[in-house]
This record gives sequence, structure tokens and C-alpha cells, in this order.
Amino acid sequence: MTQSNETHQIDPCTLVLFGASGNLARVKLFPGLFRLDSIGRLPAELKILAVGRQAVDLAAWRADIKTMLDAKFKKGYDASAFERFIARNFYHANPPTDPDAFAKLKNTLSDERIFPQNLAYFLSVRPVDFAPVVESLANVGLTQEDKYWRRVVIEKPFGTDLPSAQDLQKSITKHLKESQIYRIDHYLGKSALQNILLQRFTNTILEPIWNNQYIDHVQITNTEMLGVGERTTFYDTTGALRDMIQSHILQTLALTAMELPKDLSPDSVRDAKIKVLEQIRPIPVNELNKHVFRAQYAAGEVPTSDGKTEKVPGYLEELARDNNGEKVDSVVETYAAMKLFIDNPRWQGVPFYIRTAKRLHEADTCIAIRFKKAPLQINGGQNQNWLIIGIQPRECIKMEIQSKIPGLDIKTRSIQLDAANRLPEDDTVDAYEALLLNLMQGDNSNYLHINEAEAQWRLVDPVVKAWAADKTSVYQYPAGSRDPEASKVIFESEDQFWRYSIELGGDK
Ligand SMILES: NC(=O)c1ccc[n+]([C@@H]2O[C@H](COP(=O)([O-])OP(=O)(O)OC[C@H]3O[C@@H](n4cnc5c(N)ncnc54)[C@H](OP(=O)(O)O)[C@@H]3O)[C@@H](O)[C@H]2O)c1
Repeated sequence: MTQSNETHQIDPCTLVLFGASGNLARVKLFPGLFRLDSIGRLPAELKILAVGRQAVDLAAWRADIKTMLDAKFKKGYDASAFERFIARNFYHANPPTDPDAFAKLKNTLSDERIFPQNLAYFLSVRPVDFAPVVESLANVGLTQEDKYWRRVVIEKPFGTDLPSAQDLQKSITKHLKESQIYRIDHYLGKSALQNILLQRFTNTILEPIWNNQYIDHVQITNTEMLGVGERTTFYDTTGALRDMIQSHILQTLALTAMELPKDLSPDSVRDAKIKVLEQIRPIPVNELNKHVFRAQYAAGEVPTSDGKTEKVPGYLEELARDNNGEKVDSVVETYAAMKLFIDNPRWQGVPFYIRTAKRLHEADTCIAIRFKKAPLQINGGQNQNWLIIGIQPRECIKMEIQSKIPGLDIKTRSIQLDAANRLPEDDTVDAYEALLLNLMQGDNSNYLHINEAEAQWRLVDPVVKAWAADKTSVYQYPAGSRDPEASKVIFESEDQFWRYSIELGGDK
């Protein structure tokens, strides 16, 4: 984790972008690079070489980049910043049918008058292409580090299970050292995620209570009101567990539960995260129904932005729609919840409930921590403190405490200390902007180490397999509803319940 991005020196370098005409590049990477350039964060010498299968001439490619920026920055942008940015951009055609394609790429890059020789490759391509692209680069010597550095960004997902992640790792480490590999989990580029570690350890008052002596349980939630939409093909081979829990939610858990790193260097931060991920107790496959729960959304009603509601189809109906109207028998989950325990002195006995869902009644990403019962219990005795870190839509930290209701009676109510982690005047930086900058700085603390990726797969794989094998019908919840009642089966005690919202009273 770079302590100050502002002052961190970036070497002159060339960003070689595979899949540059793809969706991710259009929506995130080019707009992100442009913004970094506009605010003076790119080294003056930086060049961007887009690599694609099609032959496109430079003028047409630069015109295409302009359409990407026009689509993203609808209110317009600075003309001189645009001129500077567009002059950094080049295009190289790499037809898959040409056996000399990568030798030609090497030849293009060898022009030192244009391209700085430190090379960062961003593989924004299909996951099946990650290993072949690395191999082709290596075959022509383009991954070799001697005088200059060579870094490779591997997009998500890194494998689809533990064996495939290990195969991918084996293929790419024939040619790359771990320090050259930058595995994306774009959640780690979010300021709100980075803040978890900072807020925990830069405040004296939090660390002493951040353990099993004070904490009853932790909930990590990511719910959406949106459905799968057009992405049925992708989703039906992935599911909520692999799409969200294996990556983003387990990373959020690691930041919430990790020990204080030795320092903020990339190695120390990642070591602390690896350690806690490896301490999560494997889910007992013979008792899955006490530890995990899955469901699928059925047709229902969701709120619209104009305050009304609209009827939406269920997941199976969306699958049928995209399968020429024919019914698809899918057991893929759009709702996944899990109970995890961490076997270390800090967390022994504290359940971590994690859940993700599409088409729930609210969109919310947060960490909600419920503390143990206070020594004095009045009002029927359910007075527990909550500490909530809101990540999306609102970045905030809230503490719910009990306070006397003014008046003659001895009664308390919950009140909320509510602080925004983001102020209206704060800069909004997209996760990819932060990650691109880290890549050029050589700071991989916000990228996944292979041990993190493996620990995450090791944990979810047995559940993914068991769920895929169990073709009995999956619990259905109406789109727009709250968590399925049956999901409560994973709670350790009867007084635990899903925390619904970061608002006061969200525990009702
Ligand atoms: N971090 C995240 O949450 C996140 C979000 C979205 C995507 N991703 C990942 O980012 C990567 C790019 O995603 P994307 O949405 O931009 O993908 P995309 O638009 O489908 O394609 C990206 C590029 O892949 C190449 N490509 C597409 N179909 C191909 C085919 N049949 N054969 C060979 N090449 C093909 C194309 O390159 P040419 O220009 O050469 O034609 C295209 O520009 C994927 O690995 C995806 O999983 C990650």
C-alpha cells in the first residue's frame, strides 16, 4: 500500500493493453487512464499500446478512444488534456492467425523513441486467453526482466476453482515471478475497502474491542436490487458464490479480520491477509445445511428510481428467455449465505455471516458488527451495540449505542453516531484508476497474491461442488423481498438475525 500516491515516483513505461476494444477497456480502463492523465498522475513519457485482433489504423483507433471518453464524460472534458492523452495512444494488430504476431509486437515495442521499455501488460481478455498470451509474450522475450521491469495484470477470474487456478498459476509462473503478476480483484481498488484497514488500525478505540471478548458476530453483506439481466450465460456458469463470495466478500472479510500488518509495505499487508484467509475453518461438507444456504429469485416487484415499482421476471424465466423460450433447469444460486469461523485467538467462536444476493429489497454493501450484551440489560434485554461500516451506496461508519429516553422513566433507546467516510467535496476515484496507478508504481498490495486466490478457492470449492451436484430444487424468493426466511438456518443463536440496513432500526 503506497502511503502517498502523490509523491510516489513512476518510472517511464508503456502500458500494453490486450482486449483494448472490449467492454472493460471502453468503460473503465481508457476513461480511468484519461482521468489520471488529466490530474497529472501519469508519467510524462507513458505510452499506451492497444493490442487487438483486428487491423485498425491509428487515426481510427484514436477516434474510437474519443467515443469512449465522450460516452463516459457526458459533461465534456478539457481539450488540452485530451490532446495530451490521445498522443500517448497507439494501436498494434495481433491477428490470431499470424504465427509471427508476437514477434511483430516485440518489433513495434522495440522503438525506444516512442515506447519506454518498462512494460505493463494488461490482459483484459477472456480468461482462457490469460495463459496463452503470457506464453506468447515469453516466447519472444517480452516477459524477461533485466534492465527494465515487466508486469502482467491478470483480470478476474483467476481460475474457476482451485485446480484451474493452480493450472493457470503453473502456466504463467513458467515465465513470470510472483512479483511480476498483478491479479485483479477490483474491490481492492476501492477507497472504502482500503479504509477498513486504516480505520481499524489508526484509531486507538477500535482495536481493543475488535475480538471475541467483545464481538458477538460479524455480518458482511453485498446485496443488489438488480437482477442478472442480459448476463445469463455468464451467470449460469458462475453463480453468486463464485462471482461475489470467492473474491470480493472474502477480501472484505480478510481486511476486517486480519492482524495489524508489520508495516504498510505490499508484502506485509498481503502476508497479514493471507494468514487470516488460511485460518478460516473449512466448511464441513457433511453439515452443509447448517453453514451455507442458497436460493434463486422468482418473479416479483422491485422499486424504480421514480418511487414506483415494476414487475420483474424470475431467474429461471430470464434463462428461458435467453434459451429461445425453452425451460432451463438451473440450480445456480442468485442468493448465497455462509457462516465462517476463523481459528485464531482473536476470533475463536465468533461467527462471520457473509451473504450476497441479486434482486433483494435493497442494494447494500456493508460490514455490520454486533457486540455482546452489555452488563446492564433493560427494556427486555436486547440492547446490543452495532458498529457498521458502510461501503456502498454510502461510505460511512456508524455506532449504535443505548441512551436514556429523557423523561421520568428508566428506559433506553438506540441512537446512532453517524459519520460519513466520504464528504461531498472528496474526490471520486474509480477502483480501476487506483489499480492502474498502483500497477505503474509497482505496488501490488491491492492485487491478489496467489496464496490469497488459492485460499479463497479452497474454501468455496467444496460448496460449489456440492451445490452443483444437488439438483433438488432451490429455494425461491420473490424479487424485491428480504432474505429468505429459511436462510436463518445458518445462525448460531436464536437472537441473531440479518441486519437489513445501515439505517437506525435496520435491525427490525
Ligand atoms: N474485475 C471485474 O469485476 C471484471 C469486470 C468485467 C470484466 N472482467 C474481466 O475482464 C476481461 C475483459 O472483459 P470484457 O468485458 O472487456 O470482455 P469482452 O468485451 O468480451 O472482450 C475483451 C476482449 O477479448 C477479445 N475477445 C472477445 N471475444 C473473443 C474471442 N471469441 N476470441 C478471441 N478474443 C476475443 C477481444 O479482443 P480484440 O480487441 O482482440 O478483438 C475483446 O476486446 C475478462 O477477463 C473479464 O472476465 C472483470
